[in-house]
Amino acid sequence: MTHNTVSSSSRLRVGIAGLGRLGRRHAEALAFSTRHVDLVAACSPVAAELELAATEFGIAPEHLHADFEAFVNDPAIDAVVLVTPTSLHADQTIAALRAGKHVFVEKPLALNVEDCERVLAVAAEHPQQVAMVGFVRRFDPSYRRAAEDIEAGRIGRPFLVRSQTCDQNDPQGFFVRFAPTSGGIFMDCSVHDIDLARWMLGRPKALRAFASGTIALHPGLADCGDVDNGLAIVEFEGGARAVFYASRTLPHGHETTTEVIGTEGTLQIGFGAARDRTERRSALGVHHDVLPDFFERFREAFALEMVDFVAACRGERALTLTLSDALEATRIGLAITRSLRSGLPEAV
Ligand code: NAI
Repeated sequence: MTHNTVSSSSRLRVGIAGLGRLGRRHAEALAFSTRHVDLVAACSPVAAELELAATEFGIAPEHLHADFEAFVNDPAIDAVVLVTPTSLHADQTIAALRAGKHVFVEKPLALNVEDCERVLAVAAEHPQQVAMVGFVRRFDPSYRRAAEDIEAGRIGRPFLVRSQTCDQNDPQGFFVRFAPTSGGIFMDCSVHDIDLARWMLGRPKALRAFASGTIALHPGLADCGDVDNGLAIVEFEGGARAVFYASRTLPHGHETTTEVIGTEGTLQIGFGAARDRTERRSALGVHHDVLPDFFERFREAFALEMVDFVAACRGERALTLTLSDALEATRIGLAITRSLRSGLPEAV
């Protein structure tokens, strides 16, 4: 099937699949705050989510789909935004590309290398269509600034990245239910840090990974071989190294931080976790509120990544983030996950 041509003079018609925790945020951005785009269709197996798509986002009944095949073949849409469970990403991306649609799919692209390769092969057969994976930190202004500093040589040669993704503890344990389809803490959380490390280090080839982890608060994770605090080291060709930490149990809030160490300087991104620029000083000390979650930390980046997706679909600019980057992030995340289970260093 040929894809729907979208010129820079016409509006992009988008359908969204998945209206859960993150999907409804993407839907809000597409419906209310992204230029040159109309949110016209939605897909979910959950009736209440389709109801929400109608009432909150004004989607017409004929474009509310419980069936994914009907959704991707809806002639009213040029592009799909897939915010579905990770285990569905590869097959849904392939179906959408074959139906002639541009695709934005949330990270990670897939939970095994073979599925990533299948997506890359189908994308190669549809070179006129955009296929983008949501590594949202690439669109965060602070990370972009750091990448520009590295590009300009301001820290010399970067050789070490230390990066963490740490969520506030959720006593309800949402992520314990989510764990069986997420691929575990490294595939779900550290995959962002892995992509960042490759970006900041100039995409070196990963050679070997070693991981360890512990369950501090959520014993239910043991059922699927997962942990709520994980540590990993990755060795790259040419001497560069990366150290990752992921946690589900911070008591105070969300802290995503990255340090890039170079021969002539270091860059620190995101330290402090301040919610805003207000500090209260009193006899009790100096206090600020803490970022509660990833969405508040990356709100601007989520908006900017949709702007870039829409611009790419309208042929206004090319994406620098590629499907190969997503494949490599999965490959490294899997080696780390294997090492967590084997207790031994694993080849990437
Ligand atoms: P969620 O469980 O809250 O939402 C999943 C949604 O998919 C639900 O609306 C569900 O009804 C829908 N769904 C399930 N099967 C479906 C099917 N066959 N067709 C269409 N819809 C279907 O999960 P959450 O947290 O929203 O995560 C979704 C994806 O977004 C995951 O892949 C996750 O890794 C990614 N994510 C990315 C983040 C980032 O920082 N970029 C942050 C959070 C999640």
